[in-house]
Amino acid sequence: RKRLTVPAIRRRKSSREGGGEPLAMLTAYTVRTAQLLDPHCDMLLVGDSLGQVIYGLPSTVPVTLQMMAAHGAAVVRGSYHAVVVIDMPFGSYEASPQQAFESAAFLLKETGAAAVKLEGGEAMAPTVRFLSERGIPVMGHVGLTPQAVNVLGGYGARGKSEAEAAKIVADATAVAEAGAFAVVIEGVMEPIAIRITQAIACPTIGIGASAQCDGQVLVAEDMLGLFERTARFVKRYDDMAGRISAAVEAYAGEVRARVFPGPEQIYPAKD
Ligand code: KIV
Ligand code: NA
Repeated sequence: RKRLTVPAIRRRKSSREGGGEPLAMLTAYTVRTAQLLDPHCDMLLVGDSLGQVIYGLPSTVPVTLQMMAAHGAAVVRGSYHAVVVIDMPFGSYEASPQQAFESAAFLLKETGAAAVKLEGGEAMAPTVRFLSERGIPVMGHVGLTPQAVNVLGGYGARGKSEAEAAKIVADATAVAEAGAFAVVIEGVMEPIAIRITQAIACPTIGIGASAQCDGQVLVAEDMLGLFERTARFVKRYDDMAGRISAAVEAYAGEVRARVFPGPEQIYPAKD
């Protein structure tokens, strides 16, 4: 199977007639996860959520370009079907379009990923245009933008006032008109996600948004039941934490009872 392309994703405006099926996207940070998710997903996101999920950091703010590059390369090596999108980490793109281009080019060169994602709306629109016009496809991300946690004060849903709702719609419209090939809408009151989905030409990817978005994304560890803290918008499709605990408990018990290794796991002496 040939790898999907960014233009093919951009055409998947599933909320419009003839727009195709909704886009399925999950995060992946490692090669084995990428291999397992790739056949089922249109896009894999190397999310900066790896800061919390893999490294135990308190937020995504400390995540570095080097971390994103290392995990991005692993995910590209583990996939052959999905479009791989890499998050630009906090501090690597906000200062100027030039800074963003250097960081994004580094990520694409180091990993072979097809596109980057960056957080922000109207303020980032010139940067989205700068990158898009220079060969770097950009996915937008509006609403609850976790890199702004120190400004927002937490991870609560956004757009509860009409003024805030209007600002989020303006943000999404600005990055879409600047050339974003898709826009993630995270943690907003549902009517905002619907308004944006109807307003912009490229696909919207919801997370804590609406089933009417053109696609959905979740953190894989969250939907697999592997990460301890999850938001309302996470649906658990498995309890991998419980299953891993049970497997490890069984292993440790067998070691202590000298049941493992058994005859099948040892190299018997040649006679
Ligand atoms: O970092 C991440 O995992 C994300 C998605 C949740 C959209 O940005
Ligand atoms: Na992210």
